[in-house]
Amino acid sequence: MKLIILAAPGAGKGTQAELLSKHFNIPTISTGAILRKNISEGTELGEIAGKYINDGKLIPDDVMIKVVEERLLESDCKNGFILDGFPRTIAQAEALENSHIKIDAVLTIEVPDEKIIERLGGRLECKNCGSTYHKLYRAPKTEGVCDNCGGKLETRADDKPETVKERLATYHEQTEPLKKFYADRNMLRVAHGREEIADTTAEVIKALQQC
Ligand code: AP5
Ligand code: MG
Repeated sequence: MKLIILAAPGAGKGTQAELLSKHFNIPTISTGAILRKNISEGTELGEIAGKYINDGKLIPDDVMIKVVEERLLESDCKNGFILDGFPRTIAQAEALENSHIKIDAVLTIEVPDEKIIERLGGRLECKNCGSTYHKLYRAPKTEGVCDNCGGKLETRADDKPETVKERLATYHEQTEPLKKFYADRNMLRVAHGREEIADTTAEVIKALQQC
């Protein structure tokens, strides 16, 4: 399975990707996670990403295309992968199409903006392994501690209300047009984000059964 998850910030891409990755036994390539790791390690890529990410803007296409092309060449991707957060612009989608990697499906998870603002307001992320939690909807067993690895849970720097507003605007302007791009190629599968994570997963599995 070579799958793209294309959805708004906070729609549940990372949450569903984590579950699908276990289900299909394939890696998730989260461009956001790659960038955050580079920022925390102070690499050259991290320095570039830092200029955009906390303003809710997209990192330039040429930089992101190179990052993903290199990552997809790694051996763990040979039986499939889940792309979480790429492509995010028409230029990125065209670059992926021109690379002749055959994508099986593009999954979108529909969630209204008001719900997204509420979700991102309560999100916690593991500093160590990147697992995602929510103060109400997916609380960790021990407060502030990751169930998976024991790492420290933190609020993401770009989850400040003003940055979330900017990220949503960027999504609607630059990323949402990709739904038409993939619908025109008969690749788009739509799942409706539900109140419960498990109910959304059921929707996602149903949408992917059409593949
Ligand atoms: P990225 O890390 O991809 O962030 P994003 O797209 O803004 O998405 P999020 O990770 O915030 O949300 P998500 O959809 O994964 O939701 P989650 O599962 O956490 O990118 C960050 C930045 O990097 C971008 O803004 C950009 O600057 C840059 N970047 C990345 N890729 C790029 C690219 N290709 N080109 C250019 N720039 C790029 O869920 C959210 C919360 O809701 C969690 O707390 C979760 O527990 C909860 N939740 C999830 N599902 C449910 C449910 N069904 N019910 C209740 N709660 C739920
Ligand atoms: Mg995510």
